[in-house]
Amino acid sequence: MQTLTLLGKSDVTISMIMDVLESKGMFPEIKIVNNLDLPIEHTFNNPKFKWEIINEIIGDTFALGVSNSPIKRKILNTFGEDMNFINLIHNTASISSTTTLEKGCTIHSNVSISAHSHLGKFVSVNRNSSIGHHTNIGDFVSINPSVAIAGHVNIGEGTVIGIGAIVLDHVNIGKNCVIGAGSIVIKDIPDDVVAYGSPCKIVRKTNI
Ligand SMILES: CC(C)(COP(=O)(O)OP(=O)(O)OC[C@H]1O[C@@H](n2cnc3c(N)ncnc32)[C@H](O)[C@@H]1OP(=O)(O)O)[C@@H](O)C(=O)NCCC(=O)NCCS
Repeated sequence: MQTLTLLGKSDVTISMIMDVLESKGMFPEIKIVNNLDLPIEHTFNNPKFKWEIINEIIGDTFALGVSNSPIKRKILNTFGEDMNFINLIHNTASISSTTTLEKGCTIHSNVSISAHSHLGKFVSVNRNSSIGHHTNIGDFVSINPSVAIAGHVNIGEGTVIGIGAIVLDHVNIGKNCVIGAGSIVIKDIPDDVVAYGSPCKIVRKTNI
């Protein structure tokens, strides 16, 4: 890979993408198509990478430069998703050979994903999270750091699982939910709700 074009610019996400690439000994030139209106802070600087901000979509290998589900969707609605989006997987991640990932996923350090699971497109799984066997993660889901998801779990499109949450086996979590940090999810959660606590309870509707 000579170049990697990032659609969208979150300083945090770009820093983490550089870490993933560095872990694999890959140092493509990074081209960043800036978000429509976000300011540029450049706190992602890593001296090992050359990067530039560009205003048009060029390149042959693409990833999203943001992690927030609604912003991911907004960028793809604006630019389309027919480009060659790759999966970025940190060298320390361990993913079963029987697990499948669609395109545009980012898997960070020390993540483990067990057998026969499936990740949809544009899923982010943050550092130290663990996903069990026969688990299905929907498109655009973000799994924050140190989440533990058991086996036979289903998580709907666009849902965010907060840092340190635990999801017990056979639980179904709906679409566009936010599960609070540190929650223990022991029962199904419907679509479009914010839920948190131990045990995890619905608190209000989301407005995604
Ligand atoms: C669940 C969440 C979305 C709620 O956000 P919010 O609606 O802005 O909630 P607030 O901060 O206004 O708190 C409202 C109440 O809920 C409680 N609360 C918030 N999050 C909670 C959580 N995860 N577990 C238990 N209680 C929680 C607060 O203590 C507060 O209680 P009070 O009314 O008795 O004082 C948020 O707290 C959260 O957990 N987000 C995930 C963050 C994360 O993963 N960060 C890592 C990024 S890498």
